[in-house]
Formats: sequence, C-alpha cells, structure tokens
Amino acid sequence: MTQPLIEVRDLEVHFPVGRTMFNAGATVRAVHRVSFEMGRGEVVGLVGESGSGKTTLGRSLLRLIEPTGGSVRLNGKEVTGMSPADLRRARSDMQIIFQDPFASLNPRMSVGEILSEALHLHSIGSRADRRDRVAALLETVGLPPQAAERYPHEFSGGQRQRIGIARALSVEPAFIVADEPVSALDVSIQAQIVNLLAELREKMKLSILFIGHDLSVIEYLCDRVIVLYLGKVMESGTVAEIYQRPRHPYTRALLDAAPQVDANRRTDRIMLTGDLPSPVSPPSGCIFRTRCPFAQPECAATVPPLETKGADHRVACIRADEIDLVPG
Ligand SMILES: Nc1ncnc2c1ncn2[C@@H]1O[C@H](COP(=O)(O)OP(=O)(O)OP(=O)(O)O)[C@@H](O)[C@H]1O
Ligand code: SF4
Ligand SMILES: [Mg+2]
Repeated sequence: MTQPLIEVRDLEVHFPVGRTMFNAGATVRAVHRVSFEMGRGEVVGLVGESGSGKTTLGRSLLRLIEPTGGSVRLNGKEVTGMSPADLRRARSDMQIIFQDPFASLNPRMSVGEILSEALHLHSIGSRADRRDRVAALLETVGLPPQAAERYPHEFSGGQRQRIGIARALSVEPAFIVADEPVSALDVSIQAQIVNLLAELREKMKLSILFIGHDLSVIEYLCDRVIVLYLGKVMESGTVAEIYQRPRHPYTRALLDAAPQVDANRRTDRIMLTGDLPSPVSPPSGCIFRTRCPFAQPECAATVPPLETKGADHRVACIRADEIDLVPG
C-alpha cells in the first residue's frame, strides 16, 4: 500500500479549565485518542454536533493548537515535535480555510498582498512570478485579475471565501483543513463554494479534511466520513457505507435528523434527545450511552473499542451487530 499523506495516531488535545489560585481546575478532553489516515487526493468529512471537537482536531493536525499527545505524520514526517523552522516549512504543505472569511483576512492588505504573503514567507518565486501566480490563483477561484488591487471589505461573503481558498492554495499545499467553509455564507452562495472545492479537488488532487454540519454537502463532496462525539471517533467509513449502512446509533441519529439525506429510507428513526454531556466529566463506558436508545447496563462498564466492521468501516459500539434490532 502507498504511504498515506496524513497519519494520525492516538491524538489527544486537552484544555485546562477553571484553574485558579485556590482550585486545581479540570480538563476538557476536546480530542481523545483519535486515529485515522488520509490518502493523497482524498476528501474526508468530519461531522459531529457543536462542541464535539472538530475544530480542535482540525487545527491540532496543523499544530495551530498544540496536541497534548499522540502523533501526526505528513508524508511520513512527524509533525508533532517538529522544530519551529521545520514546522514553517511543513505549513507550505498544509493549509486551513476558515469558517469566517472576513475575520481571517487582514483588512489592511490588498487581495494581491494577501495572496502573495505566503509565497513571500516561503520564499517562493521572484516578484514577477508572484504577480503571475496571484493572477492565476484568482482565475482558479473564479475572480477577475483586478481583484488583486482591491481590499477584503469590497467583496461579498462568497467572494471573500474564494479569496480565503486562493490564499490556502497559494503555496500549493497537499493537505487542506476546511473548517465549515460555507456555514457563514448565504444558502444561495454555499453551493457555488462547495462546487468550487469539488472542482479544485479534481484538478489539484488535494486532500481535504472537510468539517461540516450539512450531511448532504458531505455526501456530495467526500470520499469518507469520520463521526466525532465528545472528542472520540464513533464511526468512520466510506460515504456509501456510512450513509447506506450506519452502524453506530449516534451516526444513525445524525443522519435521521438530516431531512435532506434520504429521510424515508428507514421507518425506525432515532431522535437525538438531551444535551451533549459536559466534556469535563464525560459518562463512563460508552460516552454516548446517556443519549443512546440502545444502551444496556454493560455500556456503562465497557469503553467500546473502534472495531473494523468491513472494508474501511470502523464502529465504536459494543452492540453494533445487534442494533438493527429494536431499541432498549
Ligand atoms: N481554548 C479552549 N479552552 C477550553 N476549552 C476549549 C477551548 N477550545 C475548545 N474548547 C472546548 O473543546 C470542545 C471542543 O470544541 P470545538 O470548538 O473543537 O468543537 P466543534 O466540534 O468545532 O464545535 P462547533 O461545531 O461549534 O464548531 C468544546 O467542549 C469546547 O468548549
Ligand atoms: S455501546 Fe451501548 S450506549 Fe454506546 S452506542 Fe453502543 S449501544 Fe449505545
Ligand atoms: Mg468548530
């Protein structure tokens, strides 16, 4: 097998919270022993409710947030533990597209400056090369060459996200984390940006970790899906496997709550009730058990391992083989 582009092993990200002079505080395990791989040109969707750790996981892969433990390898090279100089070089291979394109673009820089900044930083090309490169980047994301002379506030939300995408592409990365890149945009514009990402992945053979809430977008854009709950992977697999045969009750509940994703395929729909438990003191055993209609006493005692249930399909549920049966 060829080497994966990204290899994540037992990644942990903990945040200390509530620490004061008189109180030792507690720890939020935002990402808990997450492992997965991504091949070159592969697009993987990362889903889960708000607070499940998607942003923290995405950013920690790029070390925009420092992991607490575990390892991330890019092209076989350990990213965790890299020196600042090596990390700067590695950043030309891995980039991020943010949810809010306005907040992430410097309002005092022209679009041309924004797009050539990373080239400058990584000492890529001469001044003339960079000008040509900016024009080519603008064309790639569907903006006119004159956009280079203008400033971010002169553009609409969708156009600004195109600039954010062009900036990420400017250093020709192999891997991009796209953290809800369309969630802040008008619904009418979202499809254009999703289509642009689909085009780019084809053209440039990009690997993208696509964080999103809209399961129909994930189905359209991604090859595989990872389902996260309280920082842990509940299920992962190909889009076909996960959408047609979800094995984890949490995945089923997410799909059942998404009306646009073939809601009629099952009559026994699972409703997700109750709030996400506190990440400071997650339930024992299976962390999903407090909201799971299939929970049994043994679910409180056993932490379900992420088990392989077929080619490229993994599930963390001790009752995964039975849950086509009735709940309870
Ligand atoms: N800097 C921080 N300090 C303390 N806790 C944090 C910090 N950043 C994130 N968290 C906590 O980590 C958990 C995961 O947060 P994260 O933002 O990664 O979730 P998310 O899945 O991206 O959510 P959303 O869908 O709302 O963007 C949450 O409980 C959050 O409160
Ligand atoms: S292990 Fe038990 S509680 Fe957890 S998802 Fe499976 S059935 Fe539900
Ligand atoms: Mg987030």
